[in-house]
Amino acid sequence: MKWENVHLWEGKARLPQEAKFIRLREDKSLEVPDNPVIPYIEGDGIGPEIAPAMIHVVNAAMEKAYGGRKRIHWVELLAGDKAEEKTGKRMPEETLEVLKEAVVSIKGPLGTPVGKGGKSLNAVLRQSMDFYSAIRPVYWLGQPAPIPDPQRVNVAVFRENSDDVYMAVEYMPKAENTKKVREFLIKEMGVSEYALPEDCGITIKPMSEYKTKRHVRKALRWALENGKKVVAVVGKGNIMKATEGAFINWAFEVAKEPEFEGKVITEGEPSEGQVLMVRVITDQMLMQLVLKPEAYDVIVTQNLNGDYISDLASALVGGPGFVPSGNIGDGYALFESTHGTAYDIAGKGVANPLSLTLSGAMMLEYLGWKEPALLIYQAVKSAIGERLGTPDIAGGFRRMGLEAKELSTMDFARAIAERM
Ligand code: NAI
Repeated sequence: MKWENVHLWEGKARLPQEAKFIRLREDKSLEVPDNPVIPYIEGDGIGPEIAPAMIHVVNAAMEKAYGGRKRIHWVELLAGDKAEEKTGKRMPEETLEVLKEAVVSIKGPLGTPVGKGGKSLNAVLRQSMDFYSAIRPVYWLGQPAPIPDPQRVNVAVFRENSDDVYMAVEYMPKAENTKKVREFLIKEMGVSEYALPEDCGITIKPMSEYKTKRHVRKALRWALENGKKVVAVVGKGNIMKATEGAFINWAFEVAKEPEFEGKVITEGEPSEGQVLMVRVITDQMLMQLVLKPEAYDVIVTQNLNGDYISDLASALVGGPGFVPSGNIGDGYALFESTHGTAYDIAGKGVANPLSLTLSGAMMLEYLGWKEPALLIYQAVKSAIGERLGTPDIAGGFRRMGLEAKELSTMDFARAIAERM
């Protein structure tokens, strides 16, 4: 990459003199300078192809919207394969330090080597800044999609990111410590042997009031700020009363907090400036997303359900290649593509850059820069409307019997930038 506002890693992260860090105020709101440092991790596999494409499009939108008055300084940080090659570590200390200092950042996919041990880098990143909500706004921009009228899909999935079975409190079948846990539950807690046979494994599913409520507040604030109408609280509370049931009850307690008085209603028709909060059982939601996706604007749910629901919602608009995501905590935010490293197509220049590019647009909105974000959405729509795209997009159009022009990753990014 040869843009002057891209500062590649050279033995260490290069922080340009002319750039400033975003500041986190006491109340966790952001103070964004006109020339912020935005760290980026290009990622593994197709990362080195989609990251420059995203930067190209975001740079073009910033230039078009602000004519140089506001400018991002992209600072490369290492993680994953490239970090291992250059520093011997998959997640160098420097990366975590600069990410924290810069408050807002963006990353491509990172591979988790199977069977090599070590924690997933994504998990390390999420925990390091307590990004407790994973947000995926799912909308359709004209790409080939598997359902009729995909414009009906416009839903933001808020997945809790710091709780649930992902905390990995697990006891493997037949292990010594599993025997202890099992004996305790049977002897001390009166659990039946039918429920816990000798050969069972046990996964603990913790869910906390504090973690749930901060997540639900974030979803409600977002819904109100963005003029949304219906927020569905999703879980299987009828079966898991102590966890998903509790989550749903806590969510409705949040709706009664003074901050949301008169703004969040739980029955009736929401009027201007109000949202309606409803509860929906997970399996119902999965079905309704397919049959009636227009019914919900925001889905707020737990970690595991959020994983399933966000993948299904993404599939409705053509797959994760088209959907952005943000991991957000108290002010700190890390935006990322939703797909993986796609090692099978890496290095061929065919990867679809939209998930990361739209994550870039989502990041701009988070910084309060709505004009360039809007330019990106409109330009992507125009390019797809002309049936331009990477082979996955062009192939999708052809399967629909339509002609389409196939472009490389970077040419697609250029085509998007030219349509602003
Ligand atoms: P994947 O998303 O990398 O690939 C699944 C399929 O989708 C492949 O056929 C791939 O070619 C295709 N694909 C994915 N992104 C594409 C794009 N932008 N354009 C065109 N085609 C695309 O999922 P997989 O194979 O399960 O995971 C590979 C690695 O990625 C694993 O190590 C996994 O841990 C990691 N991963 C990382 C994530 C992250 O950093 N947030 C998220 C998901 C997976």
